[in-house]
Amino acid sequence: MSKIIASAAIRGAHKIVERAEKTYQEALDKWGPEQEVGFPDTAYYLPVIYAILGIPVQKMSDMKPVLDRCRALLPPPVKEKTALPYLAPALDAGMATFFAEEVIEGIRTAALIHDIGKIPLPAEILGKPGKLSESEFQLVKTHPQTGYDMLKDAEFPWPVARMVWQHHERMDGSGYPLGLKGEEILQGSRVLAVADVVEAMASPRSYRPLPGLEKALDEILAQRGILYDPDVVDACRSIFLDKDFRLDV
Ligand SMILES: [Fe+2]
Repeated sequence: MSKIIASAAIRGAHKIVERAEKTYQEALDKWGPEQEVGFPDTAYYLPVIYAILGIPVQKMSDMKPVLDRCRALLPPPVKEKTALPYLAPALDAGMATFFAEEVIEGIRTAALIHDIGKIPLPAEILGKPGKLSESEFQLVKTHPQTGYDMLKDAEFPWPVARMVWQHHERMDGSGYPLGLKGEEILQGSRVLAVADVVEAMASPRSYRPLPGLEKALDEILAQRGILYDPDVVDACRSIFLDKDFRLDV
């Protein structure tokens, strides 16, 4: 049985590499070898490739040695046929899980320092009771850009600086500082946006009454698909309502 499973796994791996080679060739024909690769679609994968294979990928032609290594790692094709259609998808799923864990770790890192750009702001503005004046609000709105400027040269294996830069962007383009819309906003920043508003509304602050978790979850539902990514809103509500997650406040 193990021979049958192994043969199906090897065939699945051959198919994945063939698909990658075909996609690479199409991209090469379309964009040329000098085309830079990176943000946004590959931002999470390239550091993983570098970590595992030690091959830096910056432009399209850099992918060739990566694919060559993949091809070299493949065991010879095997002939045993078997009805185990779930194995190739299972291999894909394993790889997807691996990448997903990388994504989560990157977002966790960005979340820890997302408001680092507030450090230069006056404490009396940050802790001011009541509404900020227009000029005070304009000053507070500089913090994602300041955060980006502070982090952009730091070496992270994830796009942390960009996630911090975009954490006040909103799906309808009403956010700041760039006014990005929908999928123009990094997925990690869309997660940070929802987590930030829920944490802010559910945590006590000395300078204002506490809205609380229930109001926070109502707020993200009311703005689902308008300000906030619908998938992120659903996931956030689910961890509180179905899985009993609680903030440590
Ligand atoms: Fe912020």
